[in-house]
Amino acid sequence: MPWLYIFPNGCYGFIMKKISLTGIKPTGLLHIGNYVAAIKPALALTGTYDARYFIADYHALNTIKDPTELSALIRQVAAGWLAAGLDPERVIFYRQSSIPETFELTTQLMAFTSKGLMNRAHAYKAAVQANTERGEDPDAGINMGLYTYPVLMAADILLFDSDVVPVGQDQVQHVEMAQDIAQVVNYNYKQEVLKVPQALVKESVAVVPGLDGRKMSKSYGNIIPLFTPEKELRKLIMRIVTNSQAVEEPKDPETSQIYALYRLFAAPEEQTALAARYREGGMGWGEAKEELFRVLNRELGPIRERFQALAADPKTLDDILARGAEKARVIAKATVNRFRAAAGID
Ligand code: TRP
Repeated sequence: MPWLYIFPNGCYGFIMKKISLTGIKPTGLLHIGNYVAAIKPALALTGTYDARYFIADYHALNTIKDPTELSALIRQVAAGWLAAGLDPERVIFYRQSSIPETFELTTQLMAFTSKGLMNRAHAYKAAVQANTERGEDPDAGINMGLYTYPVLMAADILLFDSDVVPVGQDQVQHVEMAQDIAQVVNYNYKQEVLKVPQALVKESVAVVPGLDGRKMSKSYGNIIPLFTPEKELRKLIMRIVTNSQAVEEPKDPETSQIYALYRLFAAPEEQTALAARYREGGMGWGEAKEELFRVLNRELGPIRERFQALAADPKTLDDILARGAEKARVIAKATVNRFRAAAGID
């Protein structure tokens, strides 16, 4: 929405905020890695940007074929965004599947996307490599949804005139593909049919360690779920793998997974104080874990409560998403019509 800005000399004009857009694919339990690396940075942009955030449910269909499971995951991600603080009055919030224009733009973009570009996508290449290593047919288990995933994602992005796309490092290539595709379209029609977006990666939290020290990821089975009950949260934290240093030994916070997680949830003074205690010695891993539990639970407690309230009230959730879809479609229709007019399909 444009802002009326009054300059100090009394003149006034409208200022358009830049547009931030991102989506989450509902393929698993939301975990604190998603929260810290995706949800929180995206929400921090609202206010500065016009934000458009959504649930990429058709992307999830590529892998989740059980209807009960998919529908539960969609609701979980939707409630997760809201519980984490998304304000539907300030953010256009919707499900990808509620915006049919996404699929029209996908078809429009297909004609401008080289097959070679899709062959180079990391996710597709990794799947082919895994098949080859197992001695299977290179395309075993790979559906066209996975193969054309970057085109659907480009449509998500380009449909809403996005300036910036806050994503994790693993999604940067997809945003670059959206740039490529938009440029090919614009070049062909000699006009700016589609806005060329930029990826926005928050470097400091790009990797959130999981329970085993590797990047937190559902495929590694090392996650701390975002909505896990308090008791379960403590248990999981106690399971974080540590070395065998004794209580009295000084410890290096920089190489500790516990400290790496702590830092994401603690205030700057708390971080400094705890780092000093690590270095002094006299603090065992058990105590470090208790401290981690305290700051994690402090932040996640209220989010968990809001999540439970939303989960118990499906009507409110549906209404919020329906209103978001209505607003989103106004923008989406304008984009596909702009494309149609440029392409001679009007
Ligand atoms: N591919 C993204 C992921 O797996 C999800 C996604 C789908 C997305 N469409 C998007 C992210 C558009 C940003 C913009 O995390």
